Amino acid sequence: VSLKPYNTFGIDATARYLVEVENEEDIQTLLQLPNAHTSPMLILGGGSNLLLTQDFNGLAVKINLKGIQVVKEDQEHVWVRAGAGENWHGFVMHCVEKGWAGLENLSLIPGTVGAAPMQNIGAYGVEIKDTFDRLEAVQLATGEKHIFTNADCRFGYRDSVFKNEVKGQYIISSVQFKLAKQPTFQVSYGDIQTTLTQMGVKELSIRAVSEAVIKIRRSKLPDPAEIGNAGSFFKNPEIPASQYEALKIQYPAIPGYVINDTTVKVPAGWLIEQNGWKGKRFGSIGVHTRQALVLVNYGGGKGADIQQLAYKIQNSVEEQFGIRLHTEVNFV
Ligand code: EPU
Repeated sequence: VSLKPYNTFGIDATARYLVEVENEEDIQTLLQLPNAHTSPMLILGGGSNLLLTQDFNGLAVKINLKGIQVVKEDQEHVWVRAGAGENWHGFVMHCVEKGWAGLENLSLIPGTVGAAPMQNIGAYGVEIKDTFDRLEAVQLATGEKHIFTNADCRFGYRDSVFKNEVKGQYIISSVQFKLAKQPTFQVSYGDIQTTLTQMGVKELSIRAVSEAVIKIRRSKLPDPAEIGNAGSFFKNPEIPASQYEALKIQYPAIPGYVINDTTVKVPAGWLIEQNGWKGKRFGSIGVHTRQALVLVNYGGGKGADIQQLAYKIQNSVEEQFGIRLHTEVNFV
């Protein structure tokens, strides 16, 4: 079965089997299949953080569990639960419509609700850990349903327990958020404020912030429906403040965000652009013209070739700046 429709890079690799699960009973049925515990399993959400470098000789499982419910509310908050297979942006739009605050900065991120906690998706100064309450997940080995609280998930920058200690051991079935009835706006990041001004926004609202984020993303990031990509391919590296100061002498323009007294985060996009990669095209793959952190498949590209390109970028950035980039995208 071709996995091309199931990954935003649009890589035409195959899986030996593919099943789609619509509800929790389907997950239980799946786990009782004779080969469920012997053949490798690839859990697919929106396929938006994934690079297929070869055919997958196992069972691909597309998660389609749907539904959005208000679980409880009080004067200040509403607890909302969404099925893992809900489209992330659709869910954010639902919350914006209802006037529930906290996810508006995360508008237009590709992927599904169930995949969002895996890497603690984030943008424009907000991460899902800021509003995440809990999730439900089915343990593959036992079929048992487990609850993970915010602390259990051990969220970090583009990181969680699901990429580490319990990697590959669970199917996330639903995620619950605690959203605010009174918004606290986060508009200090990058271009948000100037975009709001350009849009003629006089009074901040959840909807206005969401629209500004959508506008910025559309202007920088390629739409996977048009050009295959998986968003940022690398994480922004965190380096020792002393190394940052030394680099600043050599490269006065180097941007950096202070994380704490000893650590500075540097935009990988800047390093890659300085290295001359931005907009470079190699046959059907390349580095995006407007955001050097995004690798793209113009159509017909091979995952293995994108992987090779990523290695070359990593090596040349390390050679020039002494900084090793780490991938955000998962290789399969
Ligand atoms: N920059 C360049 N050249 C480039 C790209 C970026 O010089 O080609 C520099 C500029 O100085 C710019 C700065 O990098 O001001 C930051 O760029 P941008 O605001 O586009 O954000 P980013 O650091 O490249 C991160 C996230 C994005 C997220 C944006 C906005 C990571 C790995 N990426 O990118 O997340 O949307 O911030 O918050 O942290 C994703 O994870 O897939 C993703 C798109």
